[in-house]
This record gives sequence, structure tokens and C-alpha cells, in this order.
Amino acid sequence: MPEIAARLQQTEEYYFSRKLREIEQMNRQGEKVINLGIGSPDLPPHPEVIAALCDHAQRPDVHAYQSYRGAPALRQAISGWYRRYYQVDLDPESEVLPLIGSKEGIMHICMTYLAEGDQALIPNPGYPTYRSAVELSGAACLEYQLSEARDWLPDLDELAKKDLSRVKLMWVNYPHMPTGARPGKGFFERLIAFATERDILLCHDNPYSFILNDRPESLLAVSGAREVALELNSLSKSGNMAGWRTGMLAGKAEFINNVLRFKSNMDSGMFLPVQMAAAKALSLGPEWYHSLNETYAARREKAFSLLDHLNCTYDRQQAGMFVWARIPKSYEDGYALSDAVLTSARVFITPGGIFGSMGMPYVRISLCATTETLDRAIDAIRRSNPERQGAGPGKV
Ligand SMILES: Cc1ncc(COP(=O)(O)O)c(C=O)c1O
Repeated sequence: MPEIAARLQQTEEYYFSRKLREIEQMNRQGEKVINLGIGSPDLPPHPEVIAALCDHAQRPDVHAYQSYRGAPALRQAISGWYRRYYQVDLDPESEVLPLIGSKEGIMHICMTYLAEGDQALIPNPGYPTYRSAVELSGAACLEYQLSEARDWLPDLDELAKKDLSRVKLMWVNYPHMPTGARPGKGFFERLIAFATERDILLCHDNPYSFILNDRPESLLAVSGAREVALELNSLSKSGNMAGWRTGMLAGKAEFINNVLRFKSNMDSGMFLPVQMAAAKALSLGPEWYHSLNETYAARREKAFSLLDHLNCTYDRQQAGMFVWARIPKSYEDGYALSDAVLTSARVFITPGGIFGSMGMPYVRISLCATTETLDRAIDAIRRSNPERQGAGPGKV
């Protein structure tokens, strides 16, 4: 048997890929696990988006390979969406690049800009793919720690004291997953100044700006951002299109062309009907996002209630499609609480430690489950922990 490549030796199978197998196994044994782990929207896209997909798929002339840069209609739609919702002007010809999801883009950016000997700054806690992609590119990760005490924002002054001479790239993500933190006033400006001074490419991963967040923000709206920043965005969450694999990269032409140099060697343009339907999704008005958020707000109340039963504490103002909560002292860490809830109540919640060491005393609940499902989970937890029935609210 040939050995796997050295670059993959340090990269384990993605946590959810392993955990979902374990849950499937439990389900096969008749356990019926309620999965509140992964952030995969259970709601469908807008009916007009599905209609656009079907209409275009009927045509005989849409089945060939597509342009590496994406269909002009989709690039126009991305540009229009950025102008309408983020007040950012992007040239559809040269400053946007449709992607097969933003996860793909994370890898492309790392492979375009990083090599052995380089370092990239990544958030702890943060989306695990940043670490894997940086390491697969051959570069090393330098973590910046985020804490509840600092509203989950990096301490840029502290970071500036470190040796950053090998840092080429910094991953940032606000609204932040998994904590739901927003960037707050002035943070993006400080970040741009920090990156500009050190010649660091800022990569902002922005898939959650429309979920439970009144004011979607783009890093590219900040003055000076064009020179140092790229932004990834996605229809997975805001369009309920996670399985469609539609994302985008935005930034100045030179950055986009560099990423395309790598990407065009890895994959080809998306299926045209998917691109046309994505363009339709990007043209939806604010009422789409309002109705989505009404659903998520109702679910979030249930998630708060579930967390109250586990004596967890949380911030009620979180953005994004998860609720992040601190566990009670009676558990060693979030893994212990997650395992206890899975074993006793057959409910899966994500341990915060999978997002980095700073996430250890936390758990994350996904809002991609109906209020009925969340009610069933609450019920199962209440029944499995009768001593906690009277637990009071854990809000902070
Ligand atoms: C922070 C963050 N970035 C990127 C992604 C990937 O999204 P996409 O479906 O666009 O690849 C996710 C998905 O969960 C995420 O949480």
C-alpha cells in the first residue's frame, strides 16, 4: 500500500465527517440522535431560485464546460449584491470570482499565496478549515487568541509584539463562527491599518453577515481595504444553498487573477443553471432575509432554553446561525458536556474545543433545526437530567 503524502499526515479527517459517521452508526442501531451540530440549512432556497435552476437546466445549450471566471450574469449579480447590501463597488469583469463554496476558496487562497517557510495568522477559536488549508499549503499557522473578555476580537497591540516577519496572510471572520461575535465599531479599520503596516494579506471570510445580524458588513467597504484584503462570501447560509456549492471571492483584480491561476488548474466553472439560479438568489430583496431571520430568531429562543437546561451561559446578541455558550463548571470541558448529552439524551451538540483550545469551555448549537426538533431535544435533555429540571436561565 502506498503511504499517504507527508503533507496529509498532520491533517486528520474533518471532525464532522468522523462524528456524523458515529451518529449514523447510532441511528442504525435505532437510537434516533437529534443532530444540533452542523450548520447546514434545512430550509429550501427561494422558489424563484429553484425555478431558475429548473428552467435553465431544460435548455440544450447549458451543459458544456463553463468559463473559469464564471458566467457574466453571475458576476454582474455578485457586483450588484455587494453594491446593494454592503455599499461596495466591484467591477464584475475583474473584481469578483464565483467559487464552488467559500471552503474551496480558503484552500485556493492558501495555495496561491503560501509555501513552506511562510506563516499565516488564524483565529483560536475559529473555523477548522483555515488551519487545514494553511498546513496543506506547506505553511505554518500562528494562532491569535480570541476571548470572551475581549468580545472575541484579537488584541492587535499584543499581536504586534510578536515576530510577524514570516506572516504573509491573516484569516479573519466576522460575524465570527463559532462565537457569533460582530466586528464592532472601528475594528475593521484597525485591522486594515495593522495589515497595511506589515504587508499582510487579509482574508475575510464573510458567510454569516445576513444571519441574525441587522447590518451586514463587508471588510471591503473600509477605506484602504482594496490594497490588502480579499473577501470570501457564500450563498450557503444566506440563500439556504449549502448543497449547491455557490460562493464567491471579491477583491482587487490582481489578487483575483492570482487566485484564478491556481483555481483554473484545479476545477472548472460551475454548472450554468446553478450559476443562473445563484444570480437570482443574489437579486432577492430584504424581505427574503427578514423572513429567514424570523425563523432563526424563533429557533434561537429555543436554543437558549435548551442551554438553560444545561446550566450554560451565553450572550443573547450573537449573530450567525449558531448559539455559542459557556459550559457550567461541573464539566471538564465542552467535549465532556457534548458526550454526556449525546449518551444520555441522544442529542448532539458541538464541543467548542474543535474550534481551538480557546473554545474548550464552550459548546455550539446549530439553528438548522426546526423549533419542533429543538423542543424534542429540550424534552430529551430534561428527561435525561431530571435533577436539572428547575435550572434557571443562564443568560449573561
Ligand atoms: C466560517 C465559515 N467559513 C466558510 C464556511 C464554508 O462555507 P461554504 O459552504 O461557502 O463552503 C463555513 C461553513 O460552515 C463557515 O462556518
